[in-house]
Amino acid sequence: MALETIVKVDNLKKNYGNVEAVKGVSFEIKRGEILGIVGPNGAGKSTFFSILATISKPQDGDIIVDGESITKNKQYVKKIIGYVPQELALYSSLSGRDNLNFWAGIYGFFGKEKNKVVKNVISEMDLQDVIKRRVDTYSGGMKRRLNIALGILHNPQLLIMDEPLVGVDIISKRKIMDKMLKLKSEGQAIVFSSHSTDEVEKLCDRIVLLENGSVKAYGELNDILKKYGKDSLEDIFFVKE
Ligand SMILES: Nc1ncnc2c1ncn2[C@@H]1O[C@H](COP(=O)(O)OP(=O)(O)OP(=O)(O)O)[C@@H](O)[C@H]1O
Ligand SMILES: [Mg+2]
Repeated sequence: MALETIVKVDNLKKNYGNVEAVKGVSFEIKRGEILGIVGPNGAGKSTFFSILATISKPQDGDIIVDGESITKNKQYVKKIIGYVPQELALYSSLSGRDNLNFWAGIYGFFGKEKNKVVKNVISEMDLQDVIKRRVDTYSGGMKRRLNIALGILHNPQLLIMDEPLVGVDIISKRKIMDKMLKLKSEGQAIVFSSHSTDEVEKLCDRIVLLENGSVKAYGELNDILKKYGKDSLEDIFFVKE
C-alpha cells in the first residue's frame, strides 16, 4: 500500500542577506518512512529543518504538514512535530529530569501522565543513571541523548532530527537507530540529516541530496545509485557535473 504524504515542501526559498541558503526546493515526506537529507556543509540542511520546525520563516514557497501550512497555521504544526536541533537546546543548570519536566509541561502534560511520558523517554534513551545530575556535568553523547528524549517526549507524528547521531557511542547509536526504526514501524515520519553515508544507507527509505541550496537528487537510494551509475552514496559525493 502506498504511504500517505505528511509533508509537502513546495518551492521553498530562504535567504540570509545575499546568501541563498535554500533555492526553491520541493519534495515530500511520507508517514512511515525515514527520509535522509544529505549534502555537504552549508548545503542548507539545517536551514530547511529550522523552517520545517517553524523556528524560522521562508522568503517564498511553503511547507504543508498534515494538511496545514507552516506559515498560516504554525501553532498546529508545532504541536505535531518533534525537533532535535543540531545545536543542543538544553538548560545546562537544570537536571536532565527538570529539562524533561519543563518540556513535558510545555507540551501540555501534567500530573501522572507527565511522570509517565518522562519516565518512558528516560528509559528509552537510557538516561536513568544521570537523570538527576545537572546537564552541564553530562558528556557530549549524554546531552545528545537527552536532546533526542526531548524531541520524542510527546510522540510526534513527524520527527525532525538534525545530525542526531554525531558524537554518540556505538551502543547509544544503536539504541537511537532502533528507536527511529520503531517509530517508523508505528507509522511516524522521520526526516534526519547525517554526514555518515553508512547510517543513511542503513536507515533511509528515501534520500534528498541537497547541494548548495538545491535538490541534486531525490528518491530511493537504489534509484539514485542507478542514476549516477555508482555503487555507494559516498561515490556520488565525488561526482562533479
Ligand atoms: N543565521 C545565519 N545567517 C547567515 N547565514 C547563514 C545563517 N545560517 C546559515 N547560513 C548560511 O546558509 C547556508 C546554509 O547553512 P546550513 O546551516 O543550512 O547548512 P547545513 O547543510 O546544515 O550545513 P552543515 O552540514 O555544516 O550543518 C550556509 O551558506 C550558511 O553559511
Ligand atoms: Mg547543519
